[in-house]
Amino acid sequence: MDTEKKKLLGMLFSVLDHHVYGARIRKIAGSMHLSLMAIQEEFVRYNLGTHDAIGNEVYKSIANRFVLHIHNLIDGSWHQDRQAVITKFVSEVNAKNVIDVGFGVPTRYVEDLVLQSDDMEVTFLDMYDSAFAFSEHLLDFWSSNWRDKIFFKKINMDLDNICGDYDLYIFQDSIEHTKNPAKVLRETVMGAANNARFIISLPIGPIFPRHYMEWLGDRDARLWVEGCGLKIEKEQSVYTKPEVDLFAKQIDPKYHDLYFLCSKQR
Ligand SMILES: C[S@@+](CC[C@H](N)C(=O)[O-])C[C@H]1O[C@@H](n2cnc3c(N)ncnc32)[C@H](O)[C@@H]1O
Repeated sequence: MDTEKKKLLGMLFSVLDHHVYGARIRKIAGSMHLSLMAIQEEFVRYNLGTHDAIGNEVYKSIANRFVLHIHNLIDGSWHQDRQAVITKFVSEVNAKNVIDVGFGVPTRYVEDLVLQSDDMEVTFLDMYDSAFAFSEHLLDFWSSNWRDKIFFKKINMDLDNICGDYDLYIFQDSIEHTKNPAKVLRETVMGAANNARFIISLPIGPIFPRHYMEWLGDRDARLWVEGCGLKIEKEQSVYTKPEVDLFAKQIDPKYHDLYFLCSKQR
């Protein structure tokens, strides 16, 4: 087995062998009739970039949702740093009614903020049923009453508007997955209330498979966000760490996610 694959499997099993997270993942996999081998194969394919699916179809399978969730649990990873930033920004906004567009899987801000609050709710938007099916199982472990505050909306951003009135719109590494990112963001901003806030994270670096747009530097990203009708209030970068984030070796060393907390331009 080559060293990259060995390292990757080491990371996977650091989560799968965890007494809480691993046990939970094994239970969810059992109830969804998915083998650990299917999850392992998807983990390797997705991280080594050897997937047969070229476009967003990569996210269609249930196995891929397990992979996204496992990433979020790898100690010291880029994915954990991203969760820390979004949790901090969400807590600063103090929103009651949030929509998370292309949410992927439930992450830390949901567990630490939404489920702990008496008056906060979130709508998870995605185009694939796998996102909702996996989330239902995970959320059952996180809370007995999550259905009172977490809602699902199946929408393909390429085809339909993100309608609805929310205090906070989150696009975390998702807007670049739609065919016309500027159109989707502009229309969402135009349709939002004047006091709505936005958290947007964009990948900074050369274009990736599954992405329809690239921002080669922070300045490009700022200008683009402002061009879509937003005023930037805060920003924070999250860099990959090649020693933990195996995929980082295959990409530009300066690649990072740039997070913006924004309000609407008046
Ligand atoms: C890179 S993942 C990001 C997941 C999560 N937001 C995060 O940052 O960890 C992209 C997500 O967007 C969803 N997605 C891709 N294209 C979409 C579209 N056209 N409409 C709605 N969701 C889409 C995928 O199913 C996937 O869950």
